[in-house]
Amino acid sequence: MSMTEIFAHRGASGYAPENTLEAFRLAMEQGADGIELDVHLTKDGEVVVIHDETLNRTSDGQGKVRDYTLEELKKFSFHNHIEKYKGVQIPTLKEVLDLVENSSMKVNIELKTGIYWYEGIEEKTIEIVKNKKMEDRVIYSSFNHYSIQKILEQDIHAETAYLFSDVTLNMEKYAKETGVKGLHPAVYHLKMADFLETYLNSGLKVRVWTVNKKEDMKMFMDAGVDAVITNYPDLARK
Ligand code: G3P
Ligand code: CA
Repeated sequence: MSMTEIFAHRGASGYAPENTLEAFRLAMEQGADGIELDVHLTKDGEVVVIHDETLNRTSDGQGKVRDYTLEELKKFSFHNHIEKYKGVQIPTLKEVLDLVENSSMKVNIELKTGIYWYEGIEEKTIEIVKNKKMEDRVIYSSFNHYSIQKILEQDIHAETAYLFSDVTLNMEKYAKETGVKGLHPAVYHLKMADFLETYLNSGLKVRVWTVNKKEDMKMFMDAGVDAVITNYPDLARK
């Protein structure tokens, strides 16, 4: 059985401001095998790393990411009570890839295309990854499965995964029929019913999110999932 990989969810976001270079740097220091991050498009078409469609929850800005240019977004700072993280900015995808390129870190890019369409985000994201020559280290995922199909139209060899949390389909059959090699289910979905074994026997990559409790980390690692996606990579490593 191969070892379960540890992906830092929005970076080591249990300790540092989520989806920032600081959180990704800390994930590397804590021994994560990879990072998970979320992408949106700015008004001027730049791919930026932030979870929400709006700035309100995580920064001192207000309103939608897509209504600001990159230059305008860079003026905002993350909300923070920890002195060393004061003034931390929203990074671009390229800046994050620059940070991890000289490591062996994998990168799970989640396309946040559930609420806004973000015309062209799939093409732009693939181009950034290809320019960095990091195709072999990137996994694309999304709750918007059409976005994943658009990724595959651009690059048939791209490593892709469907994100999901509800039981609406036979996910393993659906993934195989649509050329997708990975399933990224929510912890609560796996606990709700007996899906884990089915997914593990499917031949697809199974990466579970968000696994923050020690007992869940142990349970999923013992079961042999391909990855746990966690806010606490150091705990998972222990
Ligand atoms: O990629 C797994 C997980 O990040 C999906 O949910 O809301 O944390 O982006 P969310
Ligand atoms: Ca995410």
